[in-house]
Amino acid sequence: MIQVGQYPAPSHVVAHISDTHLLAGGAPLYGKVATDAHLKQALEQLERSSIRPDALVFTGDLADLGEPDAYTRLRGIVEPVAERLGAQLIWVMGNHDERLQYSAELFDETPNDAPQDRVYDVNGLRIISFDTSVPGYHHGDVTDDQLAWLEDVLRTPAPHGTLLAVHHPPIPTPLLEAMGMLELRDQSRLERVIRGTDVRAVLAGHLHYSTHSTFAGVPVSVAAATCYTLDLTAEQRLLSGVDFGQSMTIVHVYEDRTVHSIVPVGSPEEITGQPDSAWDVIESMTPEQREQMFSAKRSPFNLGEQAD
Ligand SMILES: [Fe+2]
Ligand SMILES: [Fe+2]
Repeated sequence: MIQVGQYPAPSHVVAHISDTHLLAGGAPLYGKVATDAHLKQALEQLERSSIRPDALVFTGDLADLGEPDAYTRLRGIVEPVAERLGAQLIWVMGNHDERLQYSAELFDETPNDAPQDRVYDVNGLRIISFDTSVPGYHHGDVTDDQLAWLEDVLRTPAPHGTLLAVHHPPIPTPLLEAMGMLELRDQSRLERVIRGTDVRAVLAGHLHYSTHSTFAGVPVSVAAATCYTLDLTAEQRLLSGVDFGQSMTIVHVYEDRTVHSIVPVGSPEEITGQPDSAWDVIESMTPEQREQMFSAKRSPFNLGEQAD
């Protein structure tokens, strides 16, 4: 495909998916939410699209109760897709996950309850899976040893910089004040480690709604969830989970920035569009012809004629 805008192609593409909350046996969450089906729908959309991610990053709460079968099911659903896409698969621990089962079932390791921190090289882009979970609790925290490890890893810059993938986002949650009780504690400690390093962006989950901010001078992008989302406009509710509005986030990494785009999960009816074959016409045109065809308001294309 030719370049028709000012920006060349990104160096890396990452599919950022979060909070799958699978249960053993494919049981519906809260008796109602088809978590397996929602995840499969997200992955089907990814595969049928022209998005070709270099990595699939799942930012935690992979299994709702940390059950071994939930992790086995997760691998069964996700691994074949990652393989077909040629994408590296990167898991991150969430507060609903359990380290023993997570390490054993997702990594085929001897079960261990150590923080599940791992480093990946995705064609020169470093992605760090950093465990912010606290065994037995839902809030987030990290140990001094983890911070020392992270500081050591970040001491050597990666060719294309680093994405830090965590579950608990280090940002305020003004639309969900109650989440303050379950946020990442003592965030200034992590901030000191990240500031001034090659970390390009922080990817997170946990909130079940998409939001963006900055932390330590870098962008933070929170992917919503594939299971259920939180209705931030619900009346007189501390929390209100709804089986609606699921999404994933696609991250494009450019030389000087990252772009985070939210992709809704679902199968709505198309109400307007053009076939992909229009690219053949576009490629045969000069920039001036493209301007007259696609930008000019009164062009045949914009007056309703097909580009092909
Ligand atoms: Fe979650
Ligand atoms: Fe969470």
